[in-house]
Amino acid sequence: MSTEPTESTAPSAQPIAQLRDVLPLTAAASAEGVLSIGGCSVQDLAREFGTPLYIYDEHTIRETCRSYLRDFRGRLPGSRAHYAAKAWLSPALTRILVAEGFGMDVVSSGELHVALAGGMDPEQIGFHGNGKTREELNHALDCGVGRIIVDNDDELALLDELTRTRARTQRIMLRITPGVDARTHAKTTTGLRDSKFGFPLPSGQAEAGLVRALEAPFLDVTGFHIHLGSPLFSVEPYAEGIATIADFAAEMKERHGYEWREFSPGGGMALTYTADRTAPEADRYALQIADAIHTACDSHGLPMPDVHIEPGRSVVGRAGVALYSVVSRKHIPETRDYVTVDGGMADNIRPAMYESQYEAAAAEQMRTAPTRTATIAGKFCESGDVLVRDASLPPLEIGALVAIPASGAYQIAMESNYNLALRPAIVMVRDGHAQLVRRRQTLDDLLALEL
Ligand SMILES: Cc1ncc(COP(=O)(O)O)c(C=O)c1O
Repeated sequence: MSTEPTESTAPSAQPIAQLRDVLPLTAAASAEGVLSIGGCSVQDLAREFGTPLYIYDEHTIRETCRSYLRDFRGRLPGSRAHYAAKAWLSPALTRILVAEGFGMDVVSSGELHVALAGGMDPEQIGFHGNGKTREELNHALDCGVGRIIVDNDDELALLDELTRTRARTQRIMLRITPGVDARTHAKTTTGLRDSKFGFPLPSGQAEAGLVRALEAPFLDVTGFHIHLGSPLFSVEPYAEGIATIADFAAEMKERHGYEWREFSPGGGMALTYTADRTAPEADRYALQIADAIHTACDSHGLPMPDVHIEPGRSVVGRAGVALYSVVSRKHIPETRDYVTVDGGMADNIRPAMYESQYEAAAAEQMRTAPTRTATIAGKFCESGDVLVRDASLPPLEIGALVAIPASGAYQIAMESNYNLALRPAIVMVRDGHAQLVRRRQTLDDLLALEL
């Protein structure tokens, strides 16, 4: 740093202990303080694959999948887990999910294509989205996806037409907007009446949609879907959403003789991004969701539906660590210290888009208590490109490695080539082995689509 550093008031615990809940399950520090994930030293990974680097811990992904299936099937036999591919998708990840018994929620032909390339059984796929095109619906029907989650009237009419042409029955669920406030960021709240997603319930559009769908000769309506928003650090909105949708299901049974067989409470299960805000365990969600469904079905005399959950961020978020190198530092007296790294908003748009908060760690000093405060800035040409504001860190030299934990979800998935940055490499680590699952982009890749 150029002059006097900003002294930190942070507690002096070792970062490896302090960040235990945000780092992957296999995270450890050597005696010298170098972070390792899946038995691989981040120094070695940076040397071999360069930075910025996205490191995914296979063990954490598998353990998370197992706890979801154990917790939900323990309380709701017949339940299924569909990973929300929008959080991050690759063939390598798909192979793990298939082995762990997960299905998938996709929202585009692109996600469908990659899911199938990774070996996902189309029957285990639900196709979502409020803007599915004719081409995408044809693609989904051609592949034989298990369910299409119909979002609106226009899609219903189009799907009716396409299934009549094929004379083949397609299972669908109707996505309903229940009018429940999930109390999360405005840009990630989706269950309110004024939402672009789903058939609004209070206005009667959900009922009209169901009646139309029941009249379509080749549509089999298995049930209803809601997704309230994300991340939901409180489990209460699920109970509210389920009670609302069960009232609706009971009315539809009474008025139209329709009985649901399946129900999805969507995704939105939270992730611990910072040490001071812990996400509920999978079992807390399972308990709340199971209780709410049992209560509602008992009180209305409804059959218990099979439940399909759709967690995304909570499946892969903790497994992922973004690794950067320091490229420059600046001390502004009586103001702030900046540490600029070799990535930023092109690989992690979340802080700029949602004011998302993260922890940052000096990845080679995991046993050194932080002594100062510095803001980790990205390298992109926007003032808003700040990854972590006022992080507690030890002094960092040029070239030092900075790790940002809880980076596995909605980062690579939302990446861009802004400033024509090269998209980072991705490695999957396990038992001391690192497998490159996506190579870093090259300068020639930037010209590959240009004519
Ligand atoms: C319909 C639907 N299901 C599931 C998810 C996954 O949410 P999360 O990644 O927070 O679990 C989303 C996220 O936008 C969604 O729109």
